[in-house]
Amino acid sequence: MLVLGIETSCDETAASVVSDGREILSNLVLSQLEEHAPYGGVVPEIAARAHLDHLDGLVGRALAEAGIDLGDLDGVAATGGPGLIGGVLVGVMTAKAIASVRRLPFVAVNHLEAHALTARLTDPELRFPYLLLLVSGGHCQLLAVEGVGRYRRLGTTIDDAAGEAFDKAAKLMGLGYPGGPALERAAQGGDPARFDLPRPMKGRPGCDFSFSGLKTAVRLAVDSLPAPLSDADRSDLAASFQQAVADSLADRCKRAIAAFRAEHPDGTALVVAGGVAANAAIRQRLRLLAERAGLRFVAPPLRLCTDNAAMVAWAGVERLRAGSADGLDFAPRPRWPLDPAARPARGAGVKA
Ligand code: KG4
Ligand code: ZN
Repeated sequence: MLVLGIETSCDETAASVVSDGREILSNLVLSQLEEHAPYGGVVPEIAARAHLDHLDGLVGRALAEAGIDLGDLDGVAATGGPGLIGGVLVGVMTAKAIASVRRLPFVAVNHLEAHALTARLTDPELRFPYLLLLVSGGHCQLLAVEGVGRYRRLGTTIDDAAGEAFDKAAKLMGLGYPGGPALERAAQGGDPARFDLPRPMKGRPGCDFSFSGLKTAVRLAVDSLPAPLSDADRSDLAASFQQAVADSLADRCKRAIAAFRAEHPDGTALVVAGGVAANAAIRQRLRLLAERAGLRFVAPPLRLCTDNAAMVAWAGVERLRAGSADGLDFAPRPRWPLDPAARPARGAGVKA
């Protein structure tokens, strides 16, 4: 089975062809970084127009690189949400058009589901159920992944996502956008013990996250230092911040492992996904935690952690194998929780 995947939910235009034999035949990602850089963040209207400009050509290149044409496909999958609605519309309409003309099944993939299932593309041994830490620019969640389409949320952030915290902290330190990779580079050789930053939520019951207090602490630390920051100060602050995030994530994961184990004694792995999973210090920290708990630690390769279309194509493969394609009347969803039964987190814009 060959599936074309399309990703347009944020600022990456991506197209990929993946087989049900776990072969990634092509995986193209076109970043819009330069278009958004002057604004210090993603501008939705610019993103949508850029997707429109580039997607057709990129799909053509993804097919050519895979050595196939549209007639060889068995299905088309596109991110159907959550995300910036203008961009999602572009990807969904393109996928529907191909599916309609070629009479192929169409799969609207939840972007979070794509991140959640990526590890099964790269690790044939990974069976359900597993515990997933999804840490990206827009999301920070712990989920019990029980099967295709079966996700139970154990915890979520009550304010910022982990990647968002990296981006904001990096901005405060005068590092570029996106902040995560820049901050990780700056942290190299820095002293993680120099700044005494808070470990949000550490020791609290439950598995929810919070990062806004940490961001404020970084702001106060920056204000207390001579401006502009020296390389040494910046490096120490970046290392201290990274360590605080890693500590906070590890504490929440430790609790989630206990909760997951209680419900799923047959679960064998802790999986990490999303852009922040590209961070080596965080990966190392979580690997230790998993191994101490007797779980396997599974992290997809870096290029599959950040947004890409191979994860969307693979989610399409999984959904088609499970017999769950979508109709061409699917309406893109700017909001689309993976676990609709999960209660909103306290403090997340909802009165407790
Ligand atoms: O999954 P992703 O590509 O897009 C979303 O769905 O959000 O994640 C992007 C996020 C950004 O916030 C970026 O700063 C963060 O992942 N990120 C990192 C690293 N690489 C990307 N954060 C920390 N360390 C990194 N090496
Ligand atoms: Zn993502």
